Amino acid sequence: MIVYFSGTGNSRYCAKLLAEWLDDTVLDAIPFIREGRAAELASDAPWIFVAPVYSWQLPHVFADFIRSGSFSGSRDAYFVITCGNDIGAAADGVHALCAEKGFRDQGTLPVVMPENYIAMFQAPEREKALQIIAAARPVLEAAAACIREGKPFPPLRSGPLDRLKSGLINRAFYRFQVKTGPFAAGDACISCGKCERVCPLGTIRMQAGRPVWGARCTHCMACICGCPTGAIEYGRASRGKPRYQCPLEL
Ligand SMILES: Cc1cc2nc3c(=O)[nH]c(=O)nc-3n(C[C@H](O)[C@H](O)[C@H](O)COP(=O)(O)O)c2cc1C
Repeated sequence: MIVYFSGTGNSRYCAKLLAEWLDDTVLDAIPFIREGRAAELASDAPWIFVAPVYSWQLPHVFADFIRSGSFSGSRDAYFVITCGNDIGAAADGVHALCAEKGFRDQGTLPVVMPENYIAMFQAPEREKALQIIAAARPVLEAAAACIREGKPFPPLRSGPLDRLKSGLINRAFYRFQVKTGPFAAGDACISCGKCERVCPLGTIRMQAGRPVWGARCTHCMACICGCPTGAIEYGRASRGKPRYQCPLEL
């Protein structure tokens, strides 16, 4: 079974491609995360977890979803982690999580997909995004071949810089950067409530026709990038930047 978390669609697209090629079932973790419900799942096929990298680790909300859930049947777990650039030492965190859950760690595969973190960086325009996704396809095909043959993903090496990024910098990122304060909807807001509906943590509430952000947030960029009128900004950091949504859907 393929279980995914996705803010702006890259990981959902990868998960669905793998599901199609492997003729496997696919499940979105977001309803469980939003409702704070522990998953109780069973699969005879290997577990394939697909998610973006957030500050060189699995998103904490997704790791917690796995930690709190029950996954019976197969003990094999593969992790496919999408990233704009690199996943640092995220595979080490995955390995520890597998040990905690009694999974046989069949490896972590980084897949470079378009950058979506417009609270800090620039996201690509559509044409460039499509090129990046086309380059990711053979990587995913190789992943599917490994899974089909029951082989682990190729091993990854992490150096001291990777461990610094996935360790100290990741902790500092969550402590100092992951905030909702700078999110605000401007006059282009049409009160459609899409931001409220797409928030994986259910943190956004419409009040007097405008979104109001609560405290719980994982900076997935679903609200700001999904807004149909581009009305949401993250302080000054997002101004003038293209909003990113995976241009391909399955
Ligand atoms: C909060 C946050 C942190 C991110 N951190 C990293 C990172 O450390 N390294 C990287 O290469 N990409 C990073 N990215 C980019 C995403 O991992 C990448 O664009 C991913 O494919 C988005 O997946 P999604 O569309 O399924 O949400 C980050 C994105 C967000 C929103």
